[in-house]
Amino acid sequence: MLDSKLEQAINKQINHEYTAAFHYLAMAAYFETQNLGGFASWMMVQHQEELDHAQRLFRYLLDRGGRVELEAIPKPQSEFKSVHAVFGRALELEKQNTRAINQLYRLAEELEDYPTKSHLQWFIDEQVEEEKTFDEAKGLLEWAGDDKGALLILNDKLGQRSAEPGSK
Ligand code: FEO
Repeated sequence: MLDSKLEQAINKQINHEYTAAFHYLAMAAYFETQNLGGFASWMMVQHQEELDHAQRLFRYLLDRGGRVELEAIPKPQSEFKSVHAVFGRALELEKQNTRAINQLYRLAEELEDYPTKSHLQWFIDEQVEEEKTFDEAKGLLEWAGDDKGALLILNDKLGQRSAEPGSK
């Protein structure tokens, strides 16, 4: 039987994942309006990944006999100063999410809920990948600076990102 504290915390994490999905969708829209289709496509891949993360937790909660309680998703930021600012904000969001996952894992540990710990291990590993991916993109943008030619090259390069195998 799933502890109610854990049930509540997993519901909160489902909301975090949908919130992240919404942020990345807004970022994709921002890039589209700037005619930067490559960056937009990169963010759409990320949007899909976050939806997948939310669904994994949703499924798990139901499989454990928990009650899913969906919460409102806060309005995401839709205007940004630059491409670089978008990726900076996205990296911050990922770091916050890593902290949230770690906190959830700690709770599962305190409650000696081994199946939840096992389920969360995938998320812990995934966050390492996510932070690395965002950090690399941010690093490349720092390198490009205000050089529009370099930004267009990166727009093409990042636009080649496709969904990670096993993310579904
Ligand atoms: Fe679902 Fe980007 O963490």
